[in-house]
Amino acid sequence: MSQQTTTAHAWQFDGYGRPREVLSWRQHSLPAPGPGQALVRLHAIGMNRSEFNYVQGRYQPAREFPSCLGQEAVGEIVALGPAGQDDAAAWSQTPLEVGARVALLPGRIDLCSTGAYRDIGCYPQAALLPVPDTYNDVEGAALWMGVLTMGGALELAGITPDTAAGKRLLVTAASSSMGVVALKLARAWGATTLATSRSETKMATLTGLADHAFVASDSDSLAAGIAAATDGEGFDAALDPVGAAFYPAMVASAAVGASIVSYELITGQDTPLPIAKVMIKDLALRGYTIYRPLRQPVLLERILGWGLEYADAIRPIIAGTRSLSDAPDALEELGRAEHLGKLVLLPEA
Ligand SMILES: NC(=O)c1ccc[n+]([C@@H]2O[C@H](COP(=O)([O-])OP(=O)(O)OC[C@H]3O[C@@H](n4cnc5c(N)ncnc54)[C@H](OP(=O)(O)O)[C@@H]3O)[C@@H](O)[C@H]2O)c1
Repeated sequence: MSQQTTTAHAWQFDGYGRPREVLSWRQHSLPAPGPGQALVRLHAIGMNRSEFNYVQGRYQPAREFPSCLGQEAVGEIVALGPAGQDDAAAWSQTPLEVGARVALLPGRIDLCSTGAYRDIGCYPQAALLPVPDTYNDVEGAALWMGVLTMGGALELAGITPDTAAGKRLLVTAASSSMGVVALKLARAWGATTLATSRSETKMATLTGLADHAFVASDSDSLAAGIAAATDGEGFDAALDPVGAAFYPAMVASAAVGASIVSYELITGQDTPLPIAKVMIKDLALRGYTIYRPLRQPVLLERILGWGLEYADAIRPIIAGTRSLSDAPDALEELGRAEHLGKLVLLPEA
């Protein structure tokens, strides 16, 4: 194998701040891939809210500075190191050969040194996934974070292909790239879906994706929407990234035995917990991150399998594509939350 280095470029930052103020496009060189590694030229990069937060110091802390950012992308393997001894093995479904089209497995790349806002990167082979044949690169770059996050959160909430039928699932912030995947997966499995957004203008699209869609911006409007959609009976499972602003209504509006899975805290950390209602209604309150399946190989395999099996049913909604060279502006746009679905960055051809 050649020991040549490859010139790469990546967005990096030296300290936290607004994306436009702190991000800069820098050049560095990458060595030839070592054992268990692959050099991947990226063709499309999926944007996630965590990146907007990460740059501003509101996500997991940067391991060191300068730091890169980005966790989700599709690209082509341009060089492959020999098989590695890594604890985490490459997924058996991943095509590991030069020229193969692959995606990144969020959570298994070192965000700090090889974050995906770049043109070419060196990744563990265990961090590579297949792209469904029927997807273009942009769709492929918008698939796996949603599958890993929402597939795992659904499983934790007791909504799976075998158990979903007849269950009422509440998806808050449903216009997010995550929310759309949850709605599509749950619908494909036969659940009845309730979708919320703060925005009236997003209702037209959400109405097509969910059985019930309604505007909710606080606990009162959320409770009223759930009651109307369920004839006052409440939901059986909820996936929620909003947190404090919605929590009292979710507990009050849950059916007996319901599960509430929190996977972010967009409106702050603290919320009073009405423990009597939790107890009397026999509720399960769970927290979820993608690190749950990443710690459990059998669960990970099951969730990733859903990504391929249901690929056509969960084809991502692409809110728009932006040039990778405009990543700071695109992050500010993502922060304004006017989009529905996934924003995707494209490197210059
Ligand atoms: N736990 C995990 O492992 C994990 C993994 C991936 C993502 N996440 C989280 O999942 C969430 C969605 O990620 P994404 O990349 O799909 O985000 P996104 O596309 O940017 O969508 C986020 C949505 O959240 C809603 N929102 C924003 N601020 C809000 C506020 N103050 N109150 C209520 N709703 C608000 C907005 O919807 P409306 O304007 O339509 O209301 C917005 O469109 C993020 O919070 C992200 O951090 C967690």
